[in-house]
Parts: sequence; C-alpha cells; structure tokens
Amino acid sequence: MRTLFIDTILRRILPAVVMMAAFLFPACGDGDTAEVVNVYSHRHYDADRQLLEMFTEETGIRVNVVSAGADQLIKRLEIEGEKSPADLLITVDAGRLYRAKERGLLQPVHSEVLERNVPAHLRDPEGHWYGMTQRGRIIAYARDRVEEEELSTYEALADERWRGRILVRSSENIYNQSLLASIILNRGRDAAETWARGVVANMARSPRGNDTDQLNALIEGAGDVALVNTYYVARLYEDSTAEKRAKAERVGVFFPNQQSSGTHVNISGMGMTKSAGNRENAIRLMEFLTSDRAQQLFAEANHEYPIRPEIPLPRVLAAWGTFRADTLHPTALGEQNWEAVKLFDEVDWR
Ligand SMILES: [Fe+2]
Repeated sequence: MRTLFIDTILRRILPAVVMMAAFLFPACGDGDTAEVVNVYSHRHYDADRQLLEMFTEETGIRVNVVSAGADQLIKRLEIEGEKSPADLLITVDAGRLYRAKERGLLQPVHSEVLERNVPAHLRDPEGHWYGMTQRGRIIAYARDRVEEEELSTYEALADERWRGRILVRSSENIYNQSLLASIILNRGRDAAETWARGVVANMARSPRGNDTDQLNALIEGAGDVALVNTYYVARLYEDSTAEKRAKAERVGVFFPNQQSSGTHVNISGMGMTKSAGNRENAIRLMEFLTSDRAQQLFAEANHEYPIRPEIPLPRVLAAWGTFRADTLHPTALGEQNWEAVKLFDEVDWR
C-alpha cells in the first residue's frame, strides 16, 4: 500500500510538479527579446543537458526544457492546442512520435541538413519527426549460467528451457510494446501471441522496475537472461566503482535474430509541434542534434548508437562489434502499437 502510494507520487504527481515549476520560471533572467526554443522532452540524460548548453553557447538561443513522460507531454500538447509554448517534442521511442503525429500535434519540417543526416528509415516520410539516436533491444545474459551458443532469437526465449529464467519489465513500457509490434510485423499475430505467452510462462518474476533493475536482478541471480536496451548495459560497464564494474563483467550482450529479421532497434527522436512559435530556432536545434558533435556525445556520454553510420562508436559499443538491425520503419511499429498493447493484455504480461 505504502509502496503504491510512493509509486503514485513518483509517477503521477512529481512529473506534474516538475512541469509546473518549469513553466512558472520559463525565462529566468533574460529580457523578452532573447531568442528561445521551448522543448518538451521525455529524455532526462546528462548528455542532453550538455548538448543543449553547447547549443546555447554556439547560437545564443536559450533552450527551455519541460521534462515529463511522453504520454503526459502529448496530453499537455493536446490540452494547450494552438496556445502551447512548445516548439519541439522529444521522445525516447518512435511509437510516441507516431502517436503525436496521428493526433495532429506535429508539423512537417523540411531541411536539407536533416534529410542528409537522418537516414530515410529513421524519419517520418513527411518530415513530422526525425530520429536522433538508435538503441538496440538485446538479450543480456549471465555469463556463468548461460552459454552464448544457447541464445539465438527473441522467438527462442519462448522455449521451455528458459522456464523461470527471463527478466523483463512491464508491458506498459513502450520499448516492449515496440518489440512486440516488430514481432507481429515480422512473424504474424499468431506467432507473436505464442511468443508473448511463452515469455510470460518463462518469467523469473512478475515484471517490475526498469531495464537497469532487470540487469541488477540478473547480477543478483534472480534470472539468467534479460531483455534490455543496449545503453543500459553500456552504462553498467562504464560504472565508476570497480566493484560494480566487476559485477557488470558477468553480464554478456547478445544481439538476437542475426540470421533472420535482425535485432530490434528503436529510435529516440524529435518533431516540431504544430503550435511552434520559434520555428527557425527549433530547426537549428534539430539540425544541431544530428551534427557530428552531438551524435558523438550521444554515443560517448549516453552510449546510444548514432543515427549516422559514419560517426565513430565509443569503445564500449565498438567492443560489441557490428550487428544486423531490423529495418522495419518506426511508423510501422507505431501502427502496430495498439495491437501489441492488446496482445500483452490477452497473455497477461503485466
Ligand atoms: Fe531508457
């Protein structure tokens, strides 16, 4: 009960307070003439903060950020309508960008720089949103309990050899929804249902926590394999304490589906809001976020894969080697999102 109460505060009330605070003090210090760009962002990483500061230093354009979950930000954009101060929506998954576009909250942007920097399969064909970084959803495994040869595909995790051994977060999470959407698209709904049922049957425990929690549980021996995004594992490897790093070394990274559809990847991305009042500034920020410097910092500080293949990878990602990524368009994943949510519900993946 108490945990539920704290959880409610953290998930529902706190983000609202953070949002209100950001709007009560949107323009501290500067006069009305200052150039600004207002960002609604689901991303809460240090790398983003550093990049926005770099952007301001370089351009003189101040960036106001409102941080909250993507669903809350989308709801807020809907309520605010034309009066919304937001210029740019940034999310950690294309599913939410798709949803924002469907609800008429974004507008098309055409920029030579963006079209050159962001590959066609990582942006909306009409320019309503552009990918910023990529992340793979991989199988992390306990090196002392699992041989790499035992791993092959996402689908194989439904096999009963994994009974009681899989760690994965809740189906409310968009990363899992997009993964299931990709399986629906690649293998069909029936196969996706069989897979989801199999994984539920094989779970080491009822889903809880985020991807980091799954990795910690893996290290503690609560399960033997975990479905997580790449940057969470990289973060664990790069941990500052020697003790934690030693534990992290017990975790292996496996890129599934290399002989078939490729490893599921998703993007973190950005789209200009329909109400944007600072259009030119927002475009400059979007272009900046796809620049060499920004892409390198996303990779080095946050361990995400750049959207541009020519950007060098940091040591930790380079060590994992290249992998074959599933090239399903994020729009297709967005279109299947509702089907994935329904299916999760049917198989009782909490
Ligand atoms: Fe994440």
